[in-house]
This record gives sequence, structure tokens and C-alpha cells, in this order.
Amino acid sequence: MRVDSTAREPEKRVRQRTRPCYRAAERYDYIWVALDEPLTDIPDLPEAGQPGFRKVDQFYEPWNIGALRLMENSFDAAHTAFVHRKTFGNVERPRTDGHRDIKMRAYGFDTVNETPVKVRGELAHRAVHTNTTDTVRRSQSTWYMPFVRRLAINYPQGLVHAIVTCATPMTDHASMILQWVYRNDTEAQVSTAEVIAFDRAITLEDKRILEAVIPTYRLRSPMAKRCTCTRTGLGS
Ligand SMILES: [Fe+2]
Repeated sequence: MRVDSTAREPEKRVRQRTRPCYRAAERYDYIWVALDEPLTDIPDLPEAGQPGFRKVDQFYEPWNIGALRLMENSFDAAHTAFVHRKTFGNVERPRTDGHRDIKMRAYGFDTVNETPVKVRGELAHRAVHTNTTDTVRRSQSTWYMPFVRRLAINYPQGLVHAIVTCATPMTDHASMILQWVYRNDTEAQVSTAEVIAFDRAITLEDKRILEAVIPTYRLRSPMAKRCTCTRTGLGS
């Protein structure tokens, strides 16, 4: 004889048959899900939908890193010369003025950074709209807590290359990484494949280093709740 263990407990039966529901919204061609009551809105990205800008989806893949480690790396101006020495870093001038004009937000901050960089190879010359071997990145970076950053790079030729990177934690040691970019040029000037390839080489340099270090911030630890970027991380 089968006995329904919940026959005398209708509330328990309802709970067992009810799946949890989460808030979800579509924006920027992706689904954003809040696992709890949202503290803030979905990031408002300045270039999205702006006339003259196109969006290039770059990748969506798991990395063996802690999500906060990627966010910290995004504001570490000091790593550029070393980690990116084969792409745009200038290891012969391993100096940075760091991030300045830091403006705190309720859930994040904005910073400004200016870095002389190298332009190596035909692909980079096309992607950056220059034939010179040196240029300057004037960047505005924004951290949207906890796991989204925007890096809007302004080049002297007028090109804007605004990268959006999102990290969704899966464990303390693994995250799903999503990246796309907005550019104020056209497919005829630089193809989608070239835009992807240009950033891909740079991103893989970061991935190689980040996957080799300890995540540091465990998501459930009290430290993670109090986590702020260190001044070293901000390149000061
Ligand atoms: Fe990097």
C-alpha cells in the first residue's frame, strides 16, 4: 500500500510542488535574474541604443576564477604593462598613474584612467583605427556591484570602444563570463570578427593569470560582504 506522506499536510504538499520564482528582465539582449530583492536596477549603459554605436557580442564561457577577482582585475591599472605585454602593454614603460577622479556610487564607482599603450600588428592597427605603433587609451571605468564592469576606451582618433564584462558566480572558483562591446564605427571599417579577435587576445592574457591565482574572496564569507577594492587594486 502506498502512503502519501503529505496527505495530512496539504501545506507541505503545496510547498513541494511549488518552484521558487525569481525576478527576471531582458536588457541588452540578455536575461538578468535577481535571486533576491534587487538592491539596484540593471546597469544603465550609456552607449546602448545610442545612434552611431553598434554592439558586438564577444563571448560567454566559464572561467575557473572567483567573480570578484575579475572585477578587481578590471580596475588594476598596474597589470597592463606586464600581463598584456604581447598585445597593448608596454613593458618598457611599466608605469601607471592609476585611476583618478574616483566617484563613489551607492553600488559601485566611476574612475578615469589614461595610459600610453602599444599597437602591435595589422589587426590591432585596424581595430584601433591607427597606423602608429603607439597610442593613448583614455578610459572611463565603472563598477556596477557586484559583478559588472564597463570599460569605455576613448582613442585619439575619436574611436570609442566600450567593453561590458559580466561575471556570474557558479562556485567560489568558477564563474560564467560574458562580454560584449559597443563601438562607434562600422562593419565596413572593422569587421565583427576582427573586433572579437582583437579583444580576445587581450582577454586570454587576463584569463591565464586570473586562473592561476587563488580566488581570495569566498562568496559566503563575512569578508566577501565587506569586500572593497584595495587602493593597490585601484593602481594608486
Ligand atoms: Fe587585463
